[in-house]
Amino acid sequence: MILITGGTGYIGAHVAVELLNNGDQVLILDNLCNSSRTTLGLIASVAGRTPGFVQADVRHRRTLNSLFREYPIEAVVHCAGLKAVGESVRDPLRYYATNVGGSVTLCQAMAEAGVFRLVFSSSATVYGDCPQMPIAETCPTGQPTNPYGQSKLMAEHVMRSTAASDPRWSVGLLRYFNPIGAHRSGKLGERPSSTPNNLLPYLLQVAARERAVLKVFGNDYPTPDGTGVRDYVHVADLADGHVRALEFLRGETGVHVWNFGTGRGYSVLEVVQAFERASGVRVPLSFEARREGDIARCWADPAKAARQIGWKARHGLEQMLEDAWRWQCCSRERGEPLALATLPATGR
Ligand code: NAD
Ligand code: UFG
Repeated sequence: MILITGGTGYIGAHVAVELLNNGDQVLILDNLCNSSRTTLGLIASVAGRTPGFVQADVRHRRTLNSLFREYPIEAVVHCAGLKAVGESVRDPLRYYATNVGGSVTLCQAMAEAGVFRLVFSSSATVYGDCPQMPIAETCPTGQPTNPYGQSKLMAEHVMRSTAASDPRWSVGLLRYFNPIGAHRSGKLGERPSSTPNNLLPYLLQVAARERAVLKVFGNDYPTPDGTGVRDYVHVADLADGHVRALEFLRGETGVHVWNFGTGRGYSVLEVVQAFERASGVRVPLSFEARREGDIARCWADPAKAARQIGWKARHGLEQMLEDAWRWQCCSRERGEPLALATLPATGR
């Protein structure tokens, strides 16, 4: 059985589906601070099997201890965490308490229970403003520009030191680049609880006419069209990578780091154009000043993941955007979509 912390969240839910499809038993722990119990039914309807669920905080040691006693947990995928960059600036202690404190408590409970296989949702943010593109795992970690990024880097340090202290640990640090997209069924995707910070959720709301205009933060970067360049990766590809990482770690010890990106960067304007092609919907834009803390460019060298765990992103940008738009259109909580008819039902 695999325990997924944060398993009702955007990425965790896709990992749950992938593990269930792989034949694994799945137990989810989530405090639902940024997700909903209804996701469990959606995971079940997509995967055909229901994961176990416990509503609890990952920092609650007694709950973790009892879970490890009660269930035959062999490994943990640790996705639980807070991820809003701006909020982390306003409320840093909450971010350190959850992202660092949660990781410490989880590692303590795992060690006590004799469970030493751990996969962690890390982030390309740990590289800071890396001068070298593409970014390989050998690039030194940098100075993340906000408490969220610092907390992810600190959590990596927690796991590295823990693994260094006991050779039974087998840890995978998965550095996601920019996860986007949604499950092809249209049932699982990212559901921002307030005004989205990230490009894709914001763009989707503009396309759905829930917001008037997409603000493009900066068109004077040293990039081909002046807008920021990122490596967008489909959440379904990420989920597949977690399964491969868990399998690899079964036969290994120590700490293993993998970049999860496609290896190709797209500018904000390229993303908008690709979205317009994929959806047939026009996205109004306005050009604004650069957003504080943003870097110009960031894309992965994903060769190590291909070599070691056989992982490669399979979805291209237009597919990611088509799946994201289907999710936006199908999302019941947001009411019936404006443009459902613009997309064909998925045949994949
Ligand atoms: P999400 O908010 O959708 O999912 C996180 C889940 O963790 C939520 O369901 C939330 O309720 C839960 N959670 C938060 N604090 C908790 C706590 N104290 N105890 C138990 N559950 C708790 O976010 P996501 O996009 O699925 O991200 C998952 C992980 O991936 C996070 O750790 C995030 O830092 C990391 N990550 C995300 C991105 C991204 O752009 N989405 C990029 C890099 C890394
Ligand atoms: N952007 C806009 N308008 C918006 C939102 C974003 O122009 O409304 C631009 C940004 O300036 C940037 C690009 O779109 O050039 C991507 O921005 P996102 O906010 O979507 O993503 P970031 O690369 O800034 O950060 C994301 C996550 C971080 C994570 C990082 C690397 O938010 O948590 O990817 O994984 F650390």
